[in-house]
Formats: sequence, structure tokens, C-alpha cells
Amino acid sequence: MAIENIYGPEDGVFIQTHPLIQHKITMLRSVNTGTNEFRKLIEEIAMLMGFEALRDLPLEDIEVETPIEKCMSPVIAGKKLAIVPILRAGLGMVSGITALVPTAKIGHIGLYRDEVTHEPHEYYCKLPSPIEQRTIIVVDPMLATGGSGADAVTLIKQHGGVHIKFLCIIAAPEGIKKLHETHPDVEIYVGHLDRELNENAYICPGLGDAGDRIFGTK
Ligand code: PRP
Ligand code: URA
Repeated sequence: MAIENIYGPEDGVFIQTHPLIQHKITMLRSVNTGTNEFRKLIEEIAMLMGFEALRDLPLEDIEVETPIEKCMSPVIAGKKLAIVPILRAGLGMVSGITALVPTAKIGHIGLYRDEVTHEPHEYYCKLPSPIEQRTIIVVDPMLATGGSGADAVTLIKQHGGVHIKFLCIIAAPEGIKKLHETHPDVEIYVGHLDRELNENAYICPGLGDAGDRIFGTK
């Protein structure tokens, strides 16, 4: 059975359908999209997805004086958000989320995939402390085998993180399954669900190597 028929919002898996997100993902995929445009698209998609993922941020009323009269009006309660990009490619999504919530703290988790085994290896972890009370938004454009995403969430939990959401722009069915089964409490926001992984654990049709395309390496 197709994965979108197995996992849905009731499982905390939110596959995006907004036309703007779909349009920008198509531009992102194109082999003719250069580094500059690619970075802009990643940022814009992250902002659109962040808007959706932050729908449940708590509000509190404050008093405000308009030119007409005083009234009570809602603002975001507290400053309790942390953004955690998975290095390197997740870095490209951070500015899209901070455009929405400029006061968010930012942590970093460094993971790279072994080219042969495709297993993730940790090389860096620095998270805001204390992290227990924060809503944590983990960002990485690609959820392929799900190994990096699942390990990143495990690390955050080991540091005390509790309220965790995961944002990825393109996912393979295998990645959603792995992340959801390892961390069923984590909400997963997916820009587009792709068909499958190839023999090198790259997402098909995908967009290639997200880190290389953002940073112009290879
Ligand atoms: C990519 C991507 C994810 C990971 C996804 O990073 O940004 O972190 O692969 O693959 P997985 O779901 O199979 O773990 P990569 O390891 O290539 O590092 P980079 O961002 O530094 O290029
Ligand atoms: N990492 C990427 O950057 N792209 C893929 O397709 C899979 C993992």
C-alpha cells in the first residue's frame, strides 16, 4: 500500500499540498536551477512549510493601543522555539524559519552519511540549553533512508528535547517509515513524497545531493 495511505495527519505525518510549495519544489528539482536560485527556493519553501508547522504556537493576549482605542490582542506566548538544522543541507532552511520567528534559538547537528553503508555519522552537536520547554523544529531538505533524521531526533531527546517537529522538503517512503517508527511522537512535515530510493540511497526523482546544490560543492 502507498505510504500516504498508511500515514496521515492522525499519525502526525503532514504531506503538503499547497500549490506554491509544489511549484517551488518543481523549480528546485530542475538540473538547470543554479546555486543562487536553489538557495532562494529552499529558503522560500522552508518559510511556507514553517508557516504550516507553526500553526499551533500558543498565543497570549496583551493590551495594545490603536489610534482608536485600547484593546486586548494576541501575540506569540514566550520565546520558546528552537530551530535545529542537520548539517550541512539543513542550514539552507534556517533563514526561512527565522523570517517567521526571528527570536528563535538555533542549534546545530552535524551528520554525514557513509557513502557505502548510508549510515549516518555524528560529527557535531550544539543545542540551546535548557531545551525541555522549547518547541524544536528540526530542518533538513532530504529524508531518504531516514537514518540521519532519526539519529538527529534521538540526539535532541538525549539532551532533553521533548516537543519536536521535523521539516523536510522531499521524502522517500522509507524515510517517513523509519522516522515515524523510531519517533512516533514527532510530527513530520513533508513538502513532497517521492517514489523510492535508488541503489545509492538517493531519492528518486529527488533533486540530487541537496548539500552540494546549496553550497555549490561536488
Ligand atoms: C543528506 C541530507 C540528509 C541525509 C538524508 O546529507 O541533507 O541529512 O543526507 O539521508 P538519510 O535520510 O538516508 O540519512 P548528507 O549526509 O549528504 O550530508 P551533507 O548535507 O553534508 O551533504
Ligand atoms: N541526501 C541528498 O542530498 N539527496 C538524496 O537524494 C538523498 C540523501
